[in-house]
Amino acid sequence: MRKPEELRSFRWFGPDTLRGFGHRSRLKQLGYRREDFTGRPVIAIINTWSEINPCHLHLRERAESVKRGVWQAGGFPVEIPAFSITEMYMKPSPMLYRNLLAMDTEESLRSLPVDGAVLMGGCDKTTPGLLMGAISMDLPAIYLPAGPMLRGNWNGRPLGSGTDSLKFWTERCAGNITAEDWSDIENGIARSPGFCMTMGTASTMTALAEALGLTMPGASSIPAADSNHARMAMNCGTRIVEMVWEDRKPSSILTRESFENAITVDMAIGGSTNAMIHLVAMAGRCGIQLELPLFGKISRRAPVLADIRPSGRFLMEDFFYAGGLVALMGEIRDLLHLDCATVNGKTLGENLAAARIHNPEVIRTRANPLFTSGGTTVLYGSLAPDGAVIKTSAADPKLLKHTGPAVVFQDYNDMDARLNSADLNVTADSVLVLRNAGPLGGPGMPEWGMLPIPEKLLARGVRDMVRISDARMSGTAYGTCVLHVSPESWIGGPLALVEEGDPISLDVESGRLDLVVSGAELERRRARWVKPARRYERGYMALYGERVTQAHRGCDFDFLAGDAGTPEPEIH
Ligand code: FES
Repeated sequence: MRKPEELRSFRWFGPDTLRGFGHRSRLKQLGYRREDFTGRPVIAIINTWSEINPCHLHLRERAESVKRGVWQAGGFPVEIPAFSITEMYMKPSPMLYRNLLAMDTEESLRSLPVDGAVLMGGCDKTTPGLLMGAISMDLPAIYLPAGPMLRGNWNGRPLGSGTDSLKFWTERCAGNITAEDWSDIENGIARSPGFCMTMGTASTMTALAEALGLTMPGASSIPAADSNHARMAMNCGTRIVEMVWEDRKPSSILTRESFENAITVDMAIGGSTNAMIHLVAMAGRCGIQLELPLFGKISRRAPVLADIRPSGRFLMEDFFYAGGLVALMGEIRDLLHLDCATVNGKTLGENLAAARIHNPEVIRTRANPLFTSGGTTVLYGSLAPDGAVIKTSAADPKLLKHTGPAVVFQDYNDMDARLNSADLNVTADSVLVLRNAGPLGGPGMPEWGMLPIPEKLLARGVRDMVRISDARMSGTAYGTCVLHVSPESWIGGPLALVEEGDPISLDVESGRLDLVVSGAELERRRARWVKPARRYERGYMALYGERVTQAHRGCDFDFLAGDAGTPEPEIH
């Protein structure tokens, strides 16, 4: 246990110096007494609340619950706003800004007089962004997931974020539902605070934060609107104060084994493909290199047990009532490293001791999995020398071994202009290829990977095709979509060399993605390829363009990866 004078914040508030006087007098200006903050753990509540982030609508109230917990445990809470990445509105892609949030978090924690942090987020990129920053700063930290919203509702039918928007939009394009139906769906699909309640990136990443041991047990499954959520927030407040005294930092929790647990859980929940990029980046901040084949290896041994859309039938609210992530992890405990540490001071195994599934329809048992092996497959081949991924659990099984002629779109605008034209030479066997949608090409790897099915094929009843891009795909999306092709086309990856009609072969079972064109022909095409001009000359985008890594390396900035540590500021 640390002593009060060993607290980091004591460097600001303890010394009998002119600077110490300044630091204390300004907290007194806020109405606090010296004994309120001196020698007490100062807890940063890093809040990604914003009026334009509906997923975090309730986080101001939750910050008050955290504060109550911090005060009761003898700490001193300070709420600090952080860059709010709102998935729905931020263009061209919110992924561009994950690293900015990570820097914001790291630098706020580094430069301010705080001893520990409660990190409040949940909307897709906010979880990895907050955690990457906190990992690099390595102060005691708890992640507080915003929680999923309640089920959507349309005429008594449950609606799932993203998944059902995509599904019913397809039906609308096919003329099967009316404009009035579509308007009613718009009214019913998002009806409470919280993040997308399918197993999209938000539900996936918060579950993985829990699997890593960075949340209170059970926290990631609690719906945002449930009063359990406010009590969990208060528990985060009391626990973080204890963690500061114990000096329990991310570096004492995160290990290669805890990341293997997260990958195992990712497979068992049928998690978003985006998790692969984020886990690689988060592990990179710990100095742990996660290679894509590890995901493939774990995927083969971990069954999918969460029957949640888009892979399954139910929604996150059902998952919570069925026992939540604790119940799911209990069912795969033999596949997990149970001695990994967690923020509550117990091992993962101890936290799972009472795990029980309440509804085996929603959280399947090992005897009755949704899929016998994991939801994600890593592909390599002449089209993806550094790897690509496919969410097999959300794909049409008939297309998992397929060879077809390429229909190539140079970029999103080209696809938008030509996809539905009557003279597009496309059949259900074609392979749709979208390029210039990767980390630099997008830029920011937008979630364009679920390319729409051309309307003339929709009218013929086609609902899935093989689609290939260097983009990402929303975790709520579905279909036979090969994503994250690396290296990306913008920097001359083989995707840049595909020509109309080239045969492309996908073989998920053998983990292959190949462009069936001779090496000599590809060399001729490479000699003709022209590197695109640099796009941004100033600002964050210029920094991003210079320093972001490719998908298989997590899209972190090269200068932020690694565990070299962040120096403490001098106080003069
Ligand atoms: Fe925030 Fe989906 S829009 S999680």
